[in-house]
Amino acid sequence: MTHPEAMQPATARKSPALSGKVRVPGDKSISHRALMFGGLAAGETRVSGLLEGEHVMRTGEAMKAMGARIVKEDKEWVIQGTGNGCLLEPTDAFDFGNAGTGSRLTMGLVGTYDMVTKFIGDPSLSKRPMGRVLEPLRQMGVQVLESSPGDRLPLTLRGPRHAAPIVYRVPMPSAQVKSAVLLAGLNTAGVTTVIEPVMTRDHTEKMLAGFGANIDIETDKEKVRHIRIEGRGKLTGQVIDVPGDPSSAAFPIIASLIVPGSDVVIENVLMNQTRTGLIATLLDMNADIEIMNRRLAGGEEVADLHVRASELKGTTVPADRAPFMIDEYPVLAVAAAFAQGRTVMEGLEELRVKESDRLSAVANGLKANAVECEEGEALLVVHGRPDGKGLGGGTVETHLDHRIAMSFLVMGLASEKPVNIDDRSMIATSFPEFMELMRGLGATIE
Ligand code: S3P
Repeated sequence: MTHPEAMQPATARKSPALSGKVRVPGDKSISHRALMFGGLAAGETRVSGLLEGEHVMRTGEAMKAMGARIVKEDKEWVIQGTGNGCLLEPTDAFDFGNAGTGSRLTMGLVGTYDMVTKFIGDPSLSKRPMGRVLEPLRQMGVQVLESSPGDRLPLTLRGPRHAAPIVYRVPMPSAQVKSAVLLAGLNTAGVTTVIEPVMTRDHTEKMLAGFGANIDIETDKEKVRHIRIEGRGKLTGQVIDVPGDPSSAAFPIIASLIVPGSDVVIENVLMNQTRTGLIATLLDMNADIEIMNRRLAGGEEVADLHVRASELKGTTVPADRAPFMIDEYPVLAVAAAFAQGRTVMEGLEELRVKESDRLSAVANGLKANAVECEEGEALLVVHGRPDGKGLGGGTVETHLDHRIAMSFLVMGLASEKPVNIDDRSMIATSFPEFMELMRGLGATIE
């Protein structure tokens, strides 16, 4: 729990041109899955480039509590997994802190085991809806012994003797819900099917196939994906090289676009097509981003991004792009504040259930810093001011949300007046080296 006295404010100020070559930490989604699937698979998994942020470390602790061995040897994480179907009942509650992905995927993973598991988290995680994962799990025979009102944490699950395979159509675009059902299917005899009307990040499917799961994906003529997984199969340890997180790269990218004269290269960024919506949007906005050295690394496409300060223009971001850039809207809104004209972002309902209600946290942060914007139920419109004149001067409430904290520190680098945030401590959950990396590029952040 973050108490007001433990909050660590920070201030970002108008900065000189940013320059340099950097690497961002490993992708958060792939890092969670690497520890989880490595901890489950038989034999050894070796992971390099793992994100060592708090969110991911909590997943590692949960896997250790169920019998996996996870140690860091030099720069690699070495995991000895239990074997599929062989997780042990943990003695204590899983404390997932602030991490939605870790908690929701783990609920799926353990839900179909004949054991009792308890989940707790920080005040932000305890406000987030878990019913979206519990509903399909209940259909598979999982009992929710206790939960807080509205299917929230803390909660306790009791798995059935034999779980039932289901066919589940995911009602909202959520990679976490899709993944939780597929993971529950791993310990369920028969074939579990997830129907995904709107494609979301596909790391679970790709990585499970790499670990040897019997998984089959068919996309029908309406572009609806049917993902079938056969339970009780063997998973075998893998070697994984985690590429740089595009959701973290978003911060130095946008800082470089809005701070005049900047010229920055960000190396080894994941370019999986389900994660590049922000780049597509920025290119629509006239951003100077050169995608260099496209290559394959461990089954994923990566590239180096050369970013130069640009005269951005407002755009309309189509709603169907939202799943491919869902975590990037806060920092896109900051780019929009420095663009010519207005930027319209549609289809943002899922932003309301992130680490904070990100839609209102962003709108309030922009307003506190003199940016004209309108917030709708699932819509944000930002009116830009390219020279940054009059912008800044406010303090942003971060609501325990790392991406709100980083986005508004980026804003301060190009605003006329400094931008303050009430708490920087949560940044360590996904991007522990953010301050150092940004300062290394020339950013003035105190
Ligand atoms: C994630 C899925 C997304 C995303 C989160 C990571 C994942 O959440 O916001 O940061 O790794 O599966 P939703 O599934 O809730 O959209």
